[in-house]
Amino acid sequence: MTDTEVALKTQGNALFKQMPEFCFGLVDFNQLPTDDLPEIAFVGRSNVGKSSLINAVAGCKIARTSVTPGRTQQFNFFKVQNACYIVDLPGYGFAKAPKKMVEHWTRMIHQYLRGRVQLKRVFLLIDSRHGIKEVDANIMKMLDTSAVSYQIILTKMDKITQKQQETVLADTLAISAKHAACYPEIILTSAEKRIGIEQVRMQFVKLIAGI
Ligand code: GTP
Ligand code: MG
Repeated sequence: MTDTEVALKTQGNALFKQMPEFCFGLVDFNQLPTDDLPEIAFVGRSNVGKSSLINAVAGCKIARTSVTPGRTQQFNFFKVQNACYIVDLPGYGFAKAPKKMVEHWTRMIHQYLRGRVQLKRVFLLIDSRHGIKEVDANIMKMLDTSAVSYQIILTKMDKITQKQQETVLADTLAISAKHAACYPEIILTSAEKRIGIEQVRMQFVKLIAGI
C-alpha cells in the first residue's frame, strides 16, 4: 500500500467512526435534500446485498435487510458526518412484486439516477454468483447515456470459490471496459466476511474530497 492509500484508509475508517444518521425514507421527489451534500447511491437487483453492504460500511445496522427480495421499499437517505448522503435504493428486477409496484419503482429509480446533480457516484452492486444480467446492463446503458459516474461492486464473494472469483472478476472487467461512465476499478466485497469494506470507505473519502 502506498502512503496515499494508507491515508485514505485511515480517513475512510474515521468517516464511519460515528454512526450515520437515518434522515428519511423518500416517497416522493419533493422530499429530496436541499443542502447540496454529495449523494452516493447503492443500486442493484433485489436481494443483491445493498442494505447489507451499507451496514457493513457503516459498521452498524442502519439499513433493513431481509432474505426476502423487496425489503427496501423507499429511497432511504443516511447522512454521514455532515459530509455526504448514502442512498439505499429499492432493488430492481423483482419479478414477484406486483407489476404496478415494479413499474413505479423502476420509474422512480431511473428518474433519480438520471437527473440528480448531487449524485456523485452510483455503486452498482452485482451478485458475484450471477454476474451482470440484462437488467443490470440496461441500467449501465442508461447511466452511460446520462453520464452518471458508476462503479461496480461485486457482492457475496464469500459464497464462491477462488476460481469462480477470478472468472467473475475477469468477465465483469471485460464488460465494464466497454461502458463509458463505468469507473475502471471493481471492488470485491462480502458484507458477511467484511471483505472490501475499507475499499468502499476509501471511495467515499475520494468522492467527498472530489478526487
Ligand atoms: P432489497 O432491499 O430487497 O433490494 O435487497 P438488498 O439488495 O438490500 O439485499 P439485503 O442486504 O437485504 O440482503 C439480501 C440477503 O443476502 C440477506 O439474506 C443477506 O443476509 C444476504 N447477504 C447480503 N450480503 C451478503 C454477503 O456478503 N454474504 C452472504 N453470504 N450473504 C449476504
Ligand atoms: Mg435493501
